[in-house]
Amino acid sequence: MKAVVLKAFGGLENLVLADLPDPRPRPGEVLVEVRAAGVGHVDVMSRRGEFGGSPGSVPGIEVAGVVVAAGREVDDAWVGRRVYAMLDRTGGGYAELVTSDVEAVVALPDQVGEADAVALGFNALTALTSLERAEVRRADKALVRGAGGGVGLTATLLGIHLGAAVTAVTGSARRGERLAALGASTVVNRLADAQTYEEYDIIIDPVGGPEFDRFLEKLAPNGRYVLCGGVAGFPTPDFGSILLGRFTASPTLLMLSLSSISRAELRARMEKLLELVADKTIASLIDETFTLAAAAHAHDKLESGAAFGKIVLVP
Ligand SMILES: NC(=O)c1ccc[n+]([C@@H]2O[C@H](COP(=O)([O-])OP(=O)(O)OC[C@H]3O[C@@H](n4cnc5c(N)ncnc54)[C@H](OP(=O)(O)O)[C@@H]3O)[C@@H](O)[C@H]2O)c1
Repeated sequence: MKAVVLKAFGGLENLVLADLPDPRPRPGEVLVEVRAAGVGHVDVMSRRGEFGGSPGSVPGIEVAGVVVAAGREVDDAWVGRRVYAMLDRTGGGYAELVTSDVEAVVALPDQVGEADAVALGFNALTALTSLERAEVRRADKALVRGAGGGVGLTATLLGIHLGAAVTAVTGSARRGERLAALGASTVVNRLADAQTYEEYDIIIDPVGGPEFDRFLEKLAPNGRYVLCGGVAGFPTPDFGSILLGRFTASPTLLMLSLSSISRAELRARMEKLLELVADKTIASLIDETFTLAAAAHAHDKLESGAAFGKIVLVP
């Protein structure tokens, strides 16, 4: 099969198309013919050696495609089904074929294409889990940081769907226009000289970094803050003093990593998301599709911040 191999940790030049032996499903696994592989921030971190993966491995932690073989202990009924598969940190998704634990696959509804499924993928799973943990309620005022990015965009769409009035924070005027067109109540340009923030019942934050403190202070009484990523790095260590200083407002700070969530819970949430796309309640936004040979261009576009929606590789 053709697959993208990470030659060494580092720059884009390390993503190289190669011929590899076809993988075979082990007991408990299915073999998936990949029709779409998701490209996310985590893949970029893995390429740089900051998160999982290893030189010589095939990147890519989520795919959608057709099951073409089943290992022992797997129901043969899976063969021929279109599925979304959550792979583990070792990757394997940027390829024509990949094996997956059958516990990590979800059948696709007829109305949902493979690229749409990976466009939801881990981004939407992170966003929905964050919103549910924050117990989002109708008419809540919610703020989403990094709203032009993968996690933030799906958090914006799902927050609106769940009835919240969403303030979307982005550094791009163009992305801001698109977020407003998708239903964000307010858009704040994080790079503008004048920025007006109110107080929010919920803050969904995939960005973190030094500005985390400033947003923590924008939590309304009884507000819930979910830190679910770190595009701008870790918050400063003394954020605890801000939390304690707001003691009488009873703030809740939650951290969320999908790594701690069971596969059964992730599968159930993915099924819910796929239904929302199948019945057109929410859109699944694809920025651009690339071939496997163009994986480096796909990473380049994601890293340069030029994408709006998911970048997808199509073998
Ligand atoms: N919790 C989990 O299990 C989980 C799962 C998946 C991903 N993640 C994490 O979630 C984070 C976001 O992933 P993603 O795929 O959404 O990334 P992304 O597509 O690169 O989006 C991040 C967005 O944040 C904004 N941004 C970038 N640098 C910033 C800065 N210094 N200050 C403020 N905003 C900045 C950019 O939007 P603008 O330029 O428009 O502002 C960018 O589009 C990553 O850290 C990723 O590892 C976590």
